[in-house]
Amino acid sequence: MQSEIIKPEGTLSLQTIAMPADTNWSGDVFGGWIVSQMDLAGAIHAERFSKGRCATIAINQMSFLVPVKVGDVISCYTKILKVGNTSIQIAIEVWNSHDESRPAKQVTAGLFTFVAVDQSGQKRRISDEVRENLT
Ligand SMILES: CC(C)(COP(=O)(O)OP(=O)(O)OC[C@H]1O[C@@H](n2cnc3c(N)ncnc32)[C@H](O)[C@@H]1OP(=O)(O)O)[C@@H](O)C(=O)NCCC(=O)NCCS
Repeated sequence: MQSEIIKPEGTLSLQTIAMPADTNWSGDVFGGWIVSQMDLAGAIHAERFSKGRCATIAINQMSFLVPVKVGDVISCYTKILKVGNTSIQIAIEVWNSHDESRPAKQVTAGLFTFVAVDQSGQKRRISDEVRENLT
């Protein structure tokens, strides 16, 4: 029987390498570091989509599936699930694609909400024109 190959969902919004300074005392990478990469990836996608500044208002779900080690190449994939008046809900997956000889492995899954804001940090409405560009 053929096993199903699971692939990342969404747009590759950020790729980086885990460094020694990002680890805890056990040599695993801090969860907080990974969450911050996810936040950056989501913000990049939200800002490109909404054509302006965005702020994180919530991390609605977060799961850590497997540990990340120093030298691992992590890829953050983002997918817009919902667009409200001012908010953008984004599913974010992180995959470890360090070892090219093996399939990439999913390490985290999260659901983040961003709010479009203006230059003074006040929420701004996402225009209908922008909303129509959601693919
Ligand atoms: C972003 C900010 C300007 C929004 O202003 P606000 O008056 O609190 O906004 P609202 O309560 O009206 O919520 C705005 C949108 O977010 C949504 N929202 C609010 N809390 C949410 C939550 N916990 N989960 C999901 N969506 C949420 C609302 O439903 C609304 O969506 P809609 O406009 O699409 O209908 C303000 O909350 C803020 O400055 N927060 C701090 C942001 C920040 O500093 N982030 C970095 C973290 S250190």
